[in-house]
Amino acid sequence: MSAAADPGPETLFNTPFGTFQLRRYPMRKQELLRAWCGADMLLLETLAGASLQEPVLVVNDDYGALSLPLAAAGTACTLWTDSALAAQALADNACANKTPAPALVWSTDPPPAGTALVLLRIPKQKALLEYQLAQLAPLLPAGATVLAAGMDKHLPTGLDNLFNRYIGPCERLRGRYKAHLWRARRSEQAPPAMPGDLSSYYCEPLGATLRSLPNVFSRQTLDLGTRFLLEQLSELQPVARAVDLACGNGVIGLVALQRSLARELWFCDESAQAIASARLNLEKVLPQQVTMAHFHHGDGLRDWAAPAPDLVLCNPPFHLQHTVDDYAGRRLLSQAAAVLAPGGQLCLVANRHLDYRATLAHGFRQQRILAQNRKFRIYLASR
Ligand SMILES: C[S@@+](CC[C@H](N)C(=O)[O-])C[C@H]1O[C@@H](n2cnc3c(N)ncnc32)[C@H](O)[C@@H]1O
Repeated sequence: MSAAADPGPETLFNTPFGTFQLRRYPMRKQELLRAWCGADMLLLETLAGASLQEPVLVVNDDYGALSLPLAAAGTACTLWTDSALAAQALADNACANKTPAPALVWSTDPPPAGTALVLLRIPKQKALLEYQLAQLAPLLPAGATVLAAGMDKHLPTGLDNLFNRYIGPCERLRGRYKAHLWRARRSEQAPPAMPGDLSSYYCEPLGATLRSLPNVFSRQTLDLGTRFLLEQLSELQPVARAVDLACGNGVIGLVALQRSLARELWFCDESAQAIASARLNLEKVLPQQVTMAHFHHGDGLRDWAAPAPDLVLCNPPFHLQHTVDDYAGRRLLSQAAAVLAPGGQLCLVANRHLDYRATLAHGFRQQRILAQNRKFRIYLASR
């Protein structure tokens, strides 16, 4: 095997259920980060030797580190996730390991009822965890076990309280690999009422209130970068087809539609909750423009099948999982360059410390800075 084809030790994940080749998605050329973490190891070690005859529900598995070993051991496994990137990672890793891909349910749909065992990677956002526990609780039979683990540096506070309230008696188990584990047993008690799962804020540029599910970016206030981008929209020419790429709650696309910047507009995001929030906001705020909109839940514009857009508007992500990283944004800009119509334009906002000029120079004929302030730059690039 050549050195290039050798997956190297950092992609081989040793578990009590066997060894798996696991890669991140998206993965850069020289990826330094593994596709699993201490919390995954802790959860799998806790299950070692257990007879897993019953179906297992896995929640928030980023790359298949939990679902694949269980599926390979013959356990019927369902992944409940918000992320199209996680779904792609799971599909790729299942294929690489010749393991049947576990079933998948998006976070905006209820998970299967009656599951006796849930494995949950604790998300950083407490509101998301609370939303997930509140959804899960009424679907779990009394006595069902929830095993939840997270990396110490990302754990929200008040976890015992949350597990006790929604699931039942819980204990904090051992810590290892810089991670901790909780075990909660579903009690007979009726779970508390679902907390208000939609956050909202009044968006001045739109003149309307925007609502967002818990895993959506900037759900309680208009992001300053987004606000600055909205201030520049009047500089752009109206087009036939536009995309709100990485749309979050849809704020940019909604303002574009309201100002007749496009006759047709696509809202795109990798988060199912973002897409659901954008759809809800469109229906509430611009009901007469619903027929002008389309929704695309996936990895940016990777699987774009619609006619080439004339304009892409974007406030790109600056994180990959928990890490600040402009790679996530640079990928989206390259995807925009690949699908835009000839002469089409990309207008994006970026923090001043993230310089996208080199990336734009690859896929675009021209670029200029449309506006800048102390914190942000607006780039306008033409194909
Ligand atoms: C900085 S937020 C911008 C959200 C919204 N446009 C705004 O201005 O409030 C970036 C968004 O990118 C999404 N995202 C991250 N990676 C993505 C990908 N590969 N494809 C599509 N969306 C992605 C995130 O879910 C998040 O909603």
